[in-house]
Amino acid sequence: MIAPSILSADFARLADEAAAVAGSDWLHVDVMDAHFVPNLTLGLPVVESLLKATDIPLDCHLMIENPGRWAPPYAEAGAYNVTIHAEATDDPISVARDIRAAGAKAGLSVKPGTPIEPYLEILKEFDTLLVMSVEPGFGGQSFIPDVLSKARAVRKLVDSGELTLIVEIDGGINTDTVEAAAEAGVDCFVAGSAVYGAADPAEAVRKLRAQAAA
Ligand code: DX5
Ligand code: ZN
Repeated sequence: MIAPSILSADFARLADEAAAVAGSDWLHVDVMDAHFVPNLTLGLPVVESLLKATDIPLDCHLMIENPGRWAPPYAEAGAYNVTIHAEATDDPISVARDIRAAGAKAGLSVKPGTPIEPYLEILKEFDTLLVMSVEPGFGGQSFIPDVLSKARAVRKLVDSGELTLIVEIDGGINTDTVEAAAEAGVDCFVAGSAVYGAADPAEAVRKLRAQAAA
């Protein structure tokens, strides 16, 4: 699965930018609050408008503090998947349950320096694991290969039937890095600059998908 990140799109033309990647599996929406990360992007009103403007399922990546307060409304609005950060809450399980109760898939994300072991037990409460392969906050950074060990560890648990989970990766995914991530067992690849920085975003999505499947 390929999920273009609109962080690298033209925010004044979001409907067109979504249409430009029409064949994508998910559209990745980076919500940043200038507290959990040192950047500010968009929030619920923009997501509500985007939901009306595209049929691509929205994958909302909440890089925000207090996700217990702010995450469920994204699910209620109609986001397909709502991902919170493990580092942003003491009670990820109850946030996941609230997201699911509001009708969306629930995702858990870990920053590059956050180990996965403490969270393995609670991953059954989630539908996706988003492994960050850059420090969250900005597009266009370089891929951190060390994080692939986390994808591998969780892939094993999925393959053995202990977990049912989509393994997603976010940050620095491009034609040079997508194959290593695929080899580590990643199912879903977020790509911002590699898609929206390309002359033909739809072609960039097709290329990444073909490489990931090879
Ligand atoms: C970074 C965001 C990413 C970002 C990835 O904090 O979570 O989704 O858009 O951008 P690229 O693909 O350019 O690294
Ligand atoms: Zn993201």
